[in-house]
Amino acid sequence: MKRRNFLQKAALGSVGITTLGTSLRATAATSKKAKTTLRSQTSDASLPVVIATWSVAQATQKAWQSLQEGSSALDAVIAGCGVEEANAKGQSVGIGGLPDREGRVTLDACVMNEKGNYGAVLCMQNIKHPIAVAKKVMEDTPHVIMAGGGAEQFAVSQGFERENLLTEQSKKDWETWRQTSKYKPIINIENHDTIGMLAIDTNGTISGGCTTSGLAYKMAGRVGDSAIIGSGLFVDNEIGAATATGLGEEVLKTVGSFLIVELMRQGKSPQQACEQAILRIIEKTPNIQDFQVGYIAVNKKGETGAYSIHEGFTTTTYQHQKNTISNSDFYNKK
Ligand code: GLY
Repeated sequence: MKRRNFLQKAALGSVGITTLGTSLRATAATSKKAKTTLRSQTSDASLPVVIATWSVAQATQKAWQSLQEGSSALDAVIAGCGVEEANAKGQSVGIGGLPDREGRVTLDACVMNEKGNYGAVLCMQNIKHPIAVAKKVMEDTPHVIMAGGGAEQFAVSQGFERENLLTEQSKKDWETWRQTSKYKPIINIENHDTIGMLAIDTNGTISGGCTTSGLAYKMAGRVGDSAIIGSGLFVDNEIGAATATGLGEEVLKTVGSFLIVELMRQGKSPQQACEQAILRIIEKTPNIQDFQVGYIAVNKKGETGAYSIHEGFTTTTYQHQKNTISNSDFYNKK
């Protein structure tokens, strides 16, 4: 998976999307005043289903296979996200993630299961599978979040190996960035991807996970939305689930994933709920040209939705025995 440019400006025109084997055309039109035309997503939903942010065919396939082999939805998500975390060429999650301003790779991840249980690690170094550590936090500690050195120490105590996560390529990119960028504490708006993944097994059990190296060249200690319940991820087994990618500060301020699940509770489709959560950001933020946010969601029936502020957000869905990468997507067209 290549890192995508999150500074893309909004593009005009509608784009095709292939989701659930159905060719759809997005017609959502929005403005700062939230003038919007929403078209409900048609659905021939079935279970099981796996949906992930970005073009991560191998990761969703891994999750799908895990489900076929009888794994829980939670373990399927952890296996799927683990594929990207272990991919040293990917520069947004796990090993190879771009570092903070000091050159340290710090990872955030969380999981949430069908019982409403949640576990997370924040700002953890030297362990390439933070999502698996998050599960351990959820299952094997009385806590829900562990951070920094304590999270790393806990991971090692659970058998995870310490390793250097800063690859030669990411080190080179960071050194280049240092030469050209002003070293001052502003929100960094460099390229960014996060892997959020949602799965429902054949019994209708929903779980999700979210994993990231956070904003490239962020201030040391900065944590985004990905490991924060309700922001980067939320699961309600009665209703559905949602997860986010993009500028965490904006997702955090609008508690985006929780909002989407609550909108689905009120009767919105996953697609409509994602669109409304994006509109919430647009309405409250003057500078949307400077950042990207994308959401995906799934409801109890296995219907999916995806929406982003700008063009360029892709999703991968595994359903009906096949992997479908949605090349572009629904996005806000101003
Ligand atoms: N969405 C990931 C982050 O902002 O850290």
